[in-house]
Amino acid sequence: MRTVRVELGPRAYAISIGAGTRRLLEAWSQSPRGRQIVVLADQAVADLHLSRLSESLPKSALALTFPSGETSKSLCVAEPLFERLAQARIERGAAIVAFGGGVAGDLAGFIAGTWLRGISFVQVPTSLLAAVDASVGGKTGVNLAAGKNLVGVFHQPEAVLIDTDFFGTLPEREYRAGLAESVKHAVIRDPEFLAVHRDQAEAILGRKAEVLTELIARNCAIKADVVSRDERETDLRAILNHGHTIGHAVEHLLAYELRHGECVALGMRVENEIARRRGWLSAADATEIARALTGLGLPERLPRPLDEQAILAACRLDKKVRHGAVHFVLLAGLGTPRRAADVTDDEILTALTVVAP
Ligand SMILES: NC(=O)c1ccc[n+]([C@@H]2O[C@H](COP(=O)([O-])OP(=O)(O)OC[C@H]3O[C@@H](n4cnc5c(N)ncnc54)[C@H](O)[C@@H]3O)[C@@H](O)[C@H]2O)c1
Ligand SMILES: [Zn+2]
Repeated sequence: MRTVRVELGPRAYAISIGAGTRRLLEAWSQSPRGRQIVVLADQAVADLHLSRLSESLPKSALALTFPSGETSKSLCVAEPLFERLAQARIERGAAIVAFGGGVAGDLAGFIAGTWLRGISFVQVPTSLLAAVDASVGGKTGVNLAAGKNLVGVFHQPEAVLIDTDFFGTLPEREYRAGLAESVKHAVIRDPEFLAVHRDQAEAILGRKAEVLTELIARNCAIKADVVSRDERETDLRAILNHGHTIGHAVEHLLAYELRHGECVALGMRVENEIARRRGWLSAADATEIARALTGLGLPERLPRPLDEQAILAACRLDKKVRHGAVHFVLLAGLGTPRRAADVTDDEILTALTVVAP
């Protein structure tokens, strides 16, 4: 088992990674004794794994499920769950277990962060994307019709338990999508880790517990370091948005036919082309990143042509727009992210040709 700490003063917590870490729930749920426990679980994950998780929880634990998928990150899904908490008389001393992928973490974290103005919660991520990214850092929230993650709170978990036993059932595409965020962490913060993605692609895709544990631990260490230096994204934390300005635009326009991580992979390709054309990133480094993404089975091209003006408009819709300027996090070399608020429409359109279908 590996442990990574998120150093946040009074809100510090540990991330435990390895086979069987779910068993740590047993001690946690008994401290303090008689604590009310509520599991909020993604339905598909509950069908597959709730019985295994429950072995480490008191019999009195209440398990509530919600439908799988991004649409569950909504106030409409949250409201009846809040009503169930009220019916069960869930008190301030209670704790929530978020069980599932990033949707479960964001929704259950939001419920934990707002129920009675905030109760404890633990993240038990079951998708690779949630393990390497969403479960760490305390951003929680739901979507509105107007956009993703518009309503939410910063609410740090008490612990993150990443149990590699749960990853075997994750669909291949979901697994690969999580790897895009892993490549992103490598290129913004740990260039040597990029080589691991390239040299060990086969082992990584094989999902062996030891390989997964190492990969996830390295990702969590990067995210924990960034988050502990800038919990509320006033500055440094924004580097985690590398690949996401174009990535989110593509995700929005393809109406979620691609997974988030797949869009981030395409976003990194385009944003690295912008950086290469600016002379910030060498052609060799851009090629190395592109090869690592391809080796992990991440998309090289858009599945269908997208309207250019629509892409530019979608970039402007992004949350990273400040004072009207679209913000990018480009690479000025491997491991050196640099913010750019002056990327022109022409630069975007020219770079988009690298992912043209
Ligand atoms: N809070 C953050 O910092 C942060 C960071 C990145 C992403 N996110 C959010 O995370 C969400 C995406 O997360 P995701 O990709 O995990 O999506 P998800 O939670 O929808 O999970 C993807 C799919 O995999 C299934 N699944 C999950 N674990 C499984 C398992 N072990 N076996 C079989 N099926 C399993 C789910 O049922 C779902 O259908 C988005 O809403 C995004 O906004 C949040
Ligand atoms: Zn992302």
